[in-house]
Amino acid sequence: MRATCCLLLAVVAELAPCLAQELKPIALPKPQTEGGKPLLRALQERKSTREFSAEKLSPQVLSNLLWAAFGVNRADGRRTAPSAMNAQEIDIYVALPEGVYRFEAGPHRLTPVAAGDLREKTGTQTYVAEAALNLIYVAHSRGKPNPDASADTGFVGQNVYLFCASEGLGTVFRGSVDRDGLAKALNLRPDQQITYAQSVGYPKK
Ligand SMILES: Cc1cc2nc3c(=O)[nH]c(=O)nc-3n(C[C@H](O)[C@H](O)[C@H](O)COP(=O)(O)O)c2cc1C
Repeated sequence: MRATCCLLLAVVAELAPCLAQELKPIALPKPQTEGGKPLLRALQERKSTREFSAEKLSPQVLSNLLWAAFGVNRADGRRTAPSAMNAQEIDIYVALPEGVYRFEAGPHRLTPVAAGDLREKTGTQTYVAEAALNLIYVAHSRGKPNPDASADTGFVGQNVYLFCASEGLGTVFRGSVDRDGLAKALNLRPDQQITYAQSVGYPKK
C-alpha cells in the first residue's frame, strides 16, 4: 500500500513539470513605453469591471500590460512599481486559455508553469473564467510572512488598473481566491504565497 502511494506521488510530481513542458516560452514583443491616455484621463476612467467579452489581447497589448504592471523601467533593473527595500518579491503569473506562465521582467518573456486552461481556478467568481486572462500575484516569503507583500501587490494592481483604463480594457483586482487550491494547481513552493489576483479582458459591450 505504502509503496503504491509513493509511486503515485512520484508520478504526480513528475507530471506537473511535464505538463508545463507542453508549452513553449513566449518571447513578448518589445513593450511600447510611450503614448496612451494622459494620466489624469486614465485616473478619471479607472474602475473595476466584472463582465468580459471573449476577445483576446494581442501579443503587443499583453506585452505592454505586463511592462506597465511590473516591468523594468530603468537600466539598473528597477521596476514600474515600487517594492519595500526594492525586494521586487512579487512575481506575476499569467493564466491564459492555453496555460499559466510566469512573467520574467528582465528578459521580458513568459515562462511556462502549467498547461491547460486554469483561469477558472484563479478565483471564486464566475467572470474569472470569461476574462481573457487572469494575473496571479505571488510573493516570495523568504521563510517568514512578508508584511509588505500586500502593499507591494497593490502598487502593481494599480498600474494594471491605469494601463487598462488607458487601453480600453476592463480589470478587477481580487481577494476572492482559493489560495491553497491555486497554489497546488501551480505547483508553488511553500515559500511562495499568493497575495491577490486580477482579471483582465475587453469589457462586454
Ligand atoms: C484588496 C482588494 C480586494 C478586492 N477583492 C475583490 C474581489 O474579490 N472580487 C471583486 O469582484 N472585487 C474585488 N475588489 C474590487 C473592489 O470591489 C472595488 O475596487 C470596489 O468595489 C470599488 O469599485 P471601483 O474599483 O470600480 O472603484 C477588491 C479590491 C481590493 C482593493
